[in-house]
Amino acid sequence: MTEKHLIWDLPLRIFHWGFALTILAAWYTAEQGADLVEIHMKLGFVALGLIAFRVLWGVIGPKHARFSQFIPSPSKLIAYLRPSKTNKSTAGHNPLGALMVILMILLISTQAISGLFINDDVFSSGPYYGSISNDLEKVMKFLHHNVFDFMIAAIVLHIAAITFYWRVKKENLVLPMITGKKTAAHVKASDAIPHSKIILGCVVAVCCVAFVYWLVVINAPVLEEFYY
Ligand code: HEM
Ligand code: HEM
Repeated sequence: MTEKHLIWDLPLRIFHWGFALTILAAWYTAEQGADLVEIHMKLGFVALGLIAFRVLWGVIGPKHARFSQFIPSPSKLIAYLRPSKTNKSTAGHNPLGALMVILMILLISTQAISGLFINDDVFSSGPYYGSISNDLEKVMKFLHHNVFDFMIAAIVLHIAAITFYWRVKKENLVLPMITGKKTAAHVKASDAIPHSKIILGCVVAVCCVAFVYWLVVINAPVLEEFYY
C-alpha cells in the first residue's frame, strides 16, 4: 500500500468545504432577490464566522494551515515562477496558490463586511445599516454589488488551477482536501503534521460563533423604526 502523510488538518478541511458551500448558497439566495434575503444574510453571518475561524487558524493552527508557512516572499514567488526542471512541488499551498487563497479570503471578507451595512431597498437590512454616513453606505453598497464579480472570477480560476494540476501535472489535489492525506510520491514524511489539533479547533470555532453573535446581535445598533 502507498504510504500517506497527513497534510491538511480536519478543522481546515471542514472550513474549506463549509466555506465553499456557504458562498455558493449565499450567491444562490442573493440571486432570488427579496424572497430569500433573510436566509442570504444568515449565510453571510456564517461566512463571517468561517473567515474569523480561518484567520485565527492561520496563526495557531497546524503547520500547513499557518499563513507564515505559506504566504510567499517575493523571492520565493519568483523562484517558483521561473521555469526549471527541478521538482517544485510543495506539501501545502504552492506560492501561487497561496496568493489565490489570500485573494479569495480578502474578497469574501469585503463582500461579507459590506453586507452588514446595506439594505435591499425593501424590508431587510444588515445589522449595521443606518449606522454610517450616507456616502460610506453608498460605498458599501457599491462594494457588495461589484466585488462579487471578482469573487466569481477568483473561484473560477481556483477550480481551473485544480483541474490543471489534475489533468496536466497528474496530481489530484481534491482528494487530500477531503481525506487530509497526500501520498509519499508528492510529500516527504517530514512534511506530515502529527495530528489535526481537533480540540483547539473546537475551542476556536466556539469563540468565532460567540464573536459573530456579539457582532450581529449584541453589538448591533437598534434601528429606529419609522411608520408612515
Ligand atoms: C460572503 C457572503 C456574501 C455573499 C457572497 C453575498 C453576495 C451577494 C450578492 C451577489 C448580492 C446581489 C448583488 C446584486 O444584486 O448586484 C447580494 C445582495 C445583498 N446582500 Fe449579500 N452577500 C454576502 C453577505 C451578506 C451579508 C453578511 C449581508 C447582511 C447581513 C448581506 C446582505 C445583502 C443584501 C441586503 C442584499 C440586497 C442588496 C440590494 O438589493 O441592493 N450579504 N449579496
Ligand atoms: C465557492 C467555492 C470555493 C471557495 C470559496 C474555495 C476557497 C478555498 C480556500 C480559501 C482555500 C484555501 C484553504 C485554506 O488554506 O484554508 C481552498 C483550497 C482548496 N480548494 Fe477550494 N474553494 C471553493 C471551491 C472548491 C471546489 C469546488 C473544489 C474542488 C473541485 C476546491 C478544491 C480545493 C483544493 C483542492 C484546495 C487545496 C489547494 C492546494 O492544494 O493548495 N475548492 N479553497
